[in-house]
Amino acid sequence: MKILVTGCAGFIGSHLTQRLLKEGHEVLGVDDFDVYYARSQKEKGLMPVLLHPKFKLVEENLATMALIKVLKGTEVVIHLAGQPGVRGSWGASFSRYLSNNIQVTQRLLEESKGSKLKRFIYASSSSVYGDVPMPEGQPELFLNEDMRVQPKSPYGVTKLAAEHLCQLYHMEYKMPTVCLRFFSVYGPGQRPDMAFHRFAQSILHDAALTIYGDGKQVRDFTYVDDVVDVINAAITSPEAVGQVVNVGGGSPCTLMEAVTLLEEISGKTSAKTFLERQKGDVMATRADTARLEKIFGFKPKVSLKEGLTRQWEWMQKFLQSEDDEKAIKANVQPIVGVDEDALAQVKADEKAAKKAAKKAKMKAVNDKLSNEAADVPGSDG
Ligand SMILES: NC(=O)c1ccc[n+]([C@@H]2O[C@H](COP(=O)([O-])OP(=O)(O)OC[C@H]3O[C@@H](n4cnc5c(N)ncnc54)[C@H](O)[C@@H]3O)[C@@H](O)[C@H]2O)c1
Repeated sequence: MKILVTGCAGFIGSHLTQRLLKEGHEVLGVDDFDVYYARSQKEKGLMPVLLHPKFKLVEENLATMALIKVLKGTEVVIHLAGQPGVRGSWGASFSRYLSNNIQVTQRLLEESKGSKLKRFIYASSSSVYGDVPMPEGQPELFLNEDMRVQPKSPYGVTKLAAEHLCQLYHMEYKMPTVCLRFFSVYGPGQRPDMAFHRFAQSILHDAALTIYGDGKQVRDFTYVDDVVDVINAAITSPEAVGQVVNVGGGSPCTLMEAVTLLEEISGKTSAKTFLERQKGDVMATRADTARLEKIFGFKPKVSLKEGLTRQWEWMQKFLQSEDDEKAIKANVQPIVGVDEDALAQVKADEKAAKKAAKKAKMKAVNDKLSNEAADVPGSDG
């Protein structure tokens, strides 16, 4: 199939693209390499597919580009491009969330309505739920898709708005939309603003871990390959059309439990700095995965221990390569500096030589003129 993957250079997008190519699909990836985090990480994620004969990369902004270019002939759209991050969504940066999460989704839906698209799969988020009140007498609450949603962050508001747009276009234009609500995705290539990436980085640099809040917040961590499996299944599952489905890892735990596990895996313990809970952070996200199982017959395969071990292994190599690159740059810079000085000296010498030549020429002309004047008889002087 011919599949358009938006946000193909991102964390989930790069894993998905590799998987779709392995399945034999033709993938057109669009990504504008947003400055939210380093381009180098995205390039590394895409490296394995860049030369694949069935992959094409279009580096453009979906908010402004002519979408017809990438939608023509496309059978499936998997829309992952977006502005992630709960904490950064307050304040002035909200406009990025509006544009990349809502407007881009609306543009894609509008441009593909009436086409023969087989699926439009949208990457929604557990952030749409917010803090759902705990029913009396229940120790824990599993969030299901029919519950009231009340996002607690501007990010969640934009993800929910885009989800509603998908539902609207499904109802009014029969678009084959599927909204998948991802719960805290992790694994190799994870975004640098996400908890496990930051924790592993601190452990590797023997620095204290920064934890927002008391660390008792619960997250349903979901391994990236499990997410990719579900997206892949959504391409062909007829039951998924028009649905909103939770994609959770199946083993929720507190942040501190995950930290302890990471310390066990790394064989290192670190100091912890607890900072104030961040606005927008919810207390608990546990996914009710009954619908996921019913529609896709899917159960997450990768345990937190196995997934974290894989992320830890990736992280060590990733940071080593980043450090190597920094060291190379640091070694190269003085040589560049010397060259620049030498270049400046050459330019100064050239200028001085030109000035001297001009002066000499003028002197020669003056000398010649005064000689000629002296030679001319009866001159008035
Ligand atoms: N990672 C998670 O835990 C998680 C959880 C819930 C939902 N999601 C959603 O899944 C999607 C992918 O998340 P991720 O963690 O891979 O994020 P990511 O930032 O790594 O990937 C998103 C990619 O989209 C690109 N992009 C953004 N705006 C664009 C635009 N206007 N035009 C073209 N490209 C654009 C970025 O350059 C980036 O490479 C996002 O929509 C996010 O909201 C992620």
